[in-house]
Amino acid sequence: MSADTERTQSDAIVRLFHVSKSYAAGSFALRDVSIEITKGEMVFLTGPSGAGKTTLMKLLFAAERPSEGQILVLGRNVTRLGERGIPALRRRVGVVFQDFKLIPQRTVEENVGLALRVVGASRREARSKVFAMLKRVGLQHRRFHYPASLSGGEQQRVALARALVNEPALLLADEPTGNLDAELSLEIMDLVAGAASRGTTVLVATHDPTILERYRRRTLHLEAGKLTDDRPESP
Ligand SMILES: Nc1ncnc2c1ncn2[C@@H]1O[C@H](COP(=O)(O)OP(=O)(O)OP(=O)(O)O)[C@@H](O)[C@H]1O
Ligand SMILES: [Mg+2]
Repeated sequence: MSADTERTQSDAIVRLFHVSKSYAAGSFALRDVSIEITKGEMVFLTGPSGAGKTTLMKLLFAAERPSEGQILVLGRNVTRLGERGIPALRRRVGVVFQDFKLIPQRTVEENVGLALRVVGASRREARSKVFAMLKRVGLQHRRFHYPASLSGGEQQRVALARALVNEPALLLADEPTGNLDAELSLEIMDLVAGAASRGTTVLVATHDPTILERYRRRTLHLEAGKLTDDRPESP
């Protein structure tokens, strides 16, 4: 293997080889998709409703399995992960959804800290990391509040803090601004871009043309499960 090939391999954070996903016989949510995403890239995923964006994200953190093809995430073949491999993968992948998925009975601090306690951080260590993370998203003053008492933008920032507190190698954000107004959307996206500039590889599904126009990063376009465009970053 040449030095070049070796570098490409170690820099690939995500690789899909001819991946198809079918939930029901005869219909495909993804169809023969091949993609490579390199360390530190911030990549957008676009396409109409039903095109397969969420399905692609789910395959990357092993919430679904592909029907065909191979998927490498952080050097691991996720199609072959066993019971212990899946949580190990998820500890290194942060996920943000459109509908936040915060735990209503837990405070902001607890919501963000749970992920750290799961990986074995002490209570004290978790506290200080959570505080630093909440500060980064501008919500340290809300740490003892419950999700229901926060605005949509604040809740989404908590969800982002939770996804980033473990310093994941990969951040998957599925329409993270889908429920937010234009100004809050940009605030969230700036935080996501900030994570990318710190070295986290980021994949963001979005419909929002304002966001695509503002960041002009590499953009993957899906249509009915097929990858129809892979547009590089533009100045
Ligand atoms: N759990 C499921 N069972 C059966 N079909 C599913 C399931 N999840 C998704 N699908 C189907 O797979 C296709 C792709 O769905 P997916 O949610 O990935 O699209 P999407 O691009 O995320 O759409 P949206 O922009 O509306 O979120 C759709 O036809 C959808 O109906
Ligand atoms: Mg979706």
